[in-house]
Amino acid sequence: MYICLCNGISDKTIRQAVRKHQPQSFQQLRKFVPVGTQCGKCVRAAREIMQDELSQI
Ligand code: FES
Repeated sequence: MYICLCNGISDKTIRQAVRKHQPQSFQQLRKFVPVGTQCGKCVRAAREIMQDELSQI
């Protein structure tokens, strides 16, 4: 499912990036995946996915 329509980023892409890089913050995640860089509507959902994935590592 697409989370960030502006940049065509799926939940799967976010989860894979979180697993690989284990970001300490959302800003850090953005260095690897350009999520929320345009309209910003996806930020909340993307942040939740990041937290969910981090809690499973
Ligand atoms: Fe992600 Fe617009 S949907 S920046």
